[in-house]
Amino acid sequence: MNLEQLELNAKKMATKGKGLLAADESTGTIKKRLDTINTESSELNRRKYRDMLFTAKGMEDFISGVIMYDETIRQSTINDEIPFSKLLSDLGVLPGIKVDMGAKPLSCFDGEFITEGLDGLRERLAEYYSLGARFAKWRAVITISDKTPTFASIDANAHALARYSSLCQEANIVPIVEPEILMDGKHSIDTSFDVTTEVLDSVFDALSNLDVYLEGIILKPNMVLSGYDSKDQASVEEVADATVTCFQRTVPAAVPGIMFLSGGQSDLLATEHLDAMNKLDTVKPWELSFSYGRALQTAALNAWSGKDENLEAGKEAFLHRAKCNSAAAKGEYSKDME
Ligand code: 13P
Repeated sequence: MNLEQLELNAKKMATKGKGLLAADESTGTIKKRLDTINTESSELNRRKYRDMLFTAKGMEDFISGVIMYDETIRQSTINDEIPFSKLLSDLGVLPGIKVDMGAKPLSCFDGEFITEGLDGLRERLAEYYSLGARFAKWRAVITISDKTPTFASIDANAHALARYSSLCQEANIVPIVEPEILMDGKHSIDTSFDVTTEVLDSVFDALSNLDVYLEGIILKPNMVLSGYDSKDQASVEEVADATVTCFQRTVPAAVPGIMFLSGGQSDLLATEHLDAMNKLDTVKPWELSFSYGRALQTAALNAWSGKDENLEAGKEAFLHRAKCNSAAAKGEYSKDME
């Protein structure tokens, strides 16, 4: 295990003003995305779509790393057959890989999930390293309802995140630790705050128990929001304040970057929330940036609409969101940029 390399790569991922492109949709999820633009989810179309994003000129000015899916890291550019991971690393963008096998129902705990994929992970990580991956992602899913989350699901998911992180670091791969609390439901922002605090406490306990090197991880959390179905939606400033306060209490200063998921927020809100956090005049020992999937891709997907003649428009739409979020990661975004 090379701690220096892990720390260097984690810091590179969290370079000020840059973020991650989460392009690691599994075959099932990317089909759902392509369905929205009436485009068949064939191997070629998935490759074309990812090629459109990865070859957008200048994306490396805003993007420090790309999370890929197993199929994608084995694919190459359309025009000159350059492996995607080589294309990215030649641009100075770190290639990453989703290694979890998805969130499955947690036995005996209705409505809760546990992420699978630890068996055989050591061998898979070694192969992904040889394919160019320098960081990985594992997403745990926590739900909020009248009865959830239970201690059981928080504890089981924290344990799995720690086992995964330890295996990644052994393989010189930076783990993205992603405990996603879904914001579906009618709950208040206060409930989100309490649950996020409890989950992060549990995750950092588990990481500490397994001696995970905190300088060599990236945290990918949800923002602290009102439940999407709550009548009372917190303002951008309230979200920024609650989210940063929660992290001040739970995330050690040794962690180089907190890079948020967008979790179904609109493109603009995801950018505004990030910007407001970076504008807050308070203690923030970590970089606060983005690791967005939908909030970076939806506009590009729609602009492309599966048609070759729209590839340039798709690239432009992606670069625009990347640029706005890069500004937000420095607290320099304004709505005039739209
Ligand atoms: P969203 O930004 O669309 O939530 O996706 C990020 C991600 O990688 C979820 O695991």
